[in-house]
Amino acid sequence: MISPTRVIAELRIANQLRTAAARAGSEGEGDWHIGLIQRLVTTYPNCRYLEVGVRHATCWNRVAPLARFAEGVDIDPGVLEHVTAGHETVHILASDAYFRDVAGDKRFEVIFLDGDHNFAQVDKDFTNALPHLAPDGTIVLHDTWPGSVEETGELACGTVYQLAERLERDPQFNALTMRRFPGVTLVQRARTDRFEDA
Ligand SMILES: C[S@@+](CC[C@H](N)C(=O)[O-])C[C@H]1O[C@@H](n2cnc3c(N)ncnc32)[C@H](O)[C@@H]1O
Repeated sequence: MISPTRVIAELRIANQLRTAAARAGSEGEGDWHIGLIQRLVTTYPNCRYLEVGVRHATCWNRVAPLARFAEGVDIDPGVLEHVTAGHETVHILASDAYFRDVAGDKRFEVIFLDGDHNFAQVDKDFTNALPHLAPDGTIVLHDTWPGSVEETGELACGTVYQLAERLERDPQFNALTMRRFPGVTLVQRARTDRFEDA
């Protein structure tokens, strides 16, 4: 059973993250990932962007306008109140249903997985997202460097770091974790042929 002290600690961390994310226009402790994703999206000409887990649209509203095409997914209809960019392409449904019923044969250069932070679900999201990743595209995972066991709780970073750890060891992928709380991991399919014309 989870101890009351741990619940309080998790709530404190979750609150700090929420406060940081809600700081409109500024990159607080919890939202430095946004600038990174914006930059990443603009490195791909005509980037197609998918974000799983939109919440306050803090990231979505700043990244979606930079993409040629953007799709968001969230189980909570409340997110639509926050969405100012690409409203019609935010789907209100679980990620499993999105990949099963909506994704079709779409391809994305950047896929940001930031929905359910439980290892089992994010692992499933990763597996489901992979067929939709364009060649040399990037999957971004959030909250992969919790920094302490306390911060791996459901209300904070969860257990996404377990997926990051596995991908870092898997020779099929190039995975780099930015070791700054709460952590971002960039994942690409491994590729050894460096020259297009070789
Ligand atoms: C951490 S927030 C997303 C924050 C956002 N990506 C950002 O950087 O501003 C996580 C969101 O994922 C959503 N979510 C949780 N489980 C989900 C699932 N299985 N499918 C889709 N969305 C989910 C929650 O409703 C919540 O809005």
